[in-house]
Amino acid sequence: MPADVDRRQWIKTAVAGAVGVVCAQRLDASAPGPAAPKPTKAPGGLPSSSTLAGDDADWAQVQRSFVVGRDIVALNHAGAGCCPQPVLEAVEHYVHEVETLPSWNLFQYGPKEPIRAGLARMFACDSEEVAILRNATEALDIVLLGLPLRAGDEVLTTTLDYWAMLDALDQRVKRDGIVVKKVRMPVPANSQDELFDAFASAVTDRTRLILVSHPVNLTGQHFPVARICEMAHARGIEVLVDAAQSFGQFEVTAGSLQCDYMGTSLHKWLMGPKGTGMLYVKREKIPKLWPLFPAGATLPPDNIRKFEQIGTAPMTMYALSEAIQFHQAIGTVRIGDRLRALTQAWTDPLRANERFEFRTSFAPGMSNVIATFHLKGTSSGELWERLFKQEKFFTFNVARRTQEFQGIRISVGLSTTAAEIDRFVTTMLRLARDLPVAH
Ligand SMILES: Cc1ncc(COP(=O)(O)O)c(C=O)c1O
Repeated sequence: MPADVDRRQWIKTAVAGAVGVVCAQRLDASAPGPAAPKPTKAPGGLPSSSTLAGDDADWAQVQRSFVVGRDIVALNHAGAGCCPQPVLEAVEHYVHEVETLPSWNLFQYGPKEPIRAGLARMFACDSEEVAILRNATEALDIVLLGLPLRAGDEVLTTTLDYWAMLDALDQRVKRDGIVVKKVRMPVPANSQDELFDAFASAVTDRTRLILVSHPVNLTGQHFPVARICEMAHARGIEVLVDAAQSFGQFEVTAGSLQCDYMGTSLHKWLMGPKGTGMLYVKREKIPKLWPLFPAGATLPPDNIRKFEQIGTAPMTMYALSEAIQFHQAIGTVRIGDRLRALTQAWTDPLRANERFEFRTSFAPGMSNVIATFHLKGTSSGELWERLFKQEKFFTFNVARRTQEFQGIRISVGLSTTAAEIDRFVTTMLRLARDLPVAH
């Protein structure tokens, strides 16, 4: 198929999703439970094919699928992604649909199974290895709190891992007497070897688990996860990957990570409904892992669904069906390429200006679309405040979560426009020129 025909096809499919056509076809329409939403009309109808000519025009169609406000530019998609309209409509629809027979619809596995299969296809694993949860914290905590560990057993991680995961480990230190080693990593790191060596040299005979982010949320730093897993497995150590900042942003599979466990949000890069997450557990590891909420006699210990027994919960997760379809209609590779292009459009000019220093390495394979900079001579807290209140950009001040360094994290999303990035670059270059250096 010629490239331009192929391009038109994806944009049509994605835009069709944006107006509720894709939305009308569940991943498996025959699944029991709440019916899929009916197609809705686009506010202005479908765009004519003549408006789909250039790349920017194509992306403009996708951008219109988001209801995100434009008065303040959202540049913290690593915090929470923007949900496209068909997913929002589906959330609303399922909330109502469940009420048609609440006590039946709420507790059906049927509608969840095609979603489980869709996530398993994306992660290239068996659907019996996928639990659908409420967020990455829940997914990762199931492993951090549910893995049988004895006093003196060691868990190895970094000081840059997500705060909630470090909190979970700290609780286990107090409750169970385990030992947690948090390795301080170079920021930015010079090479993957340096990061690998930091892990490898901290492993001891008591190490039972390694928790590694893929990538680190504060800097976007990628770790050599498969190499770490290979080294760990050779020593009988298991590896839990925090993939909250990769799943949906670029291709990541069970095979490429080689990990034993993986937890991720689905409301970030998959652009799913808020309050959705996923846990992958290698099949043979399921029986020994304790669920956070005991499933008791209702499910055998080797059933991945034992991790989903949380009681009555909002059924917004049904709209993951529409999120997966929206995401896959565009495609992970295309999404990754687009996000990287937008990222390069702001990092290149800032890297060329000597007042900026980066906490992110741009060497090949070291980062993707999350990048953190520091405007020398300023406090990142004050800069964050100014960007938000005066300049109208919503970013993330990493100094809120680490004392190791200051910085502003920028993460673009599919709703981000090239014009927004231009305005951000112009603003930052102006501030670099005008803001005095504090002594
Ligand atoms: C690396 C990482 N892990 C875990 C989380 C927690 O995600 P959730 O809010 O889905 O629990 C985040 C959130 O930003 C994150 O960046």
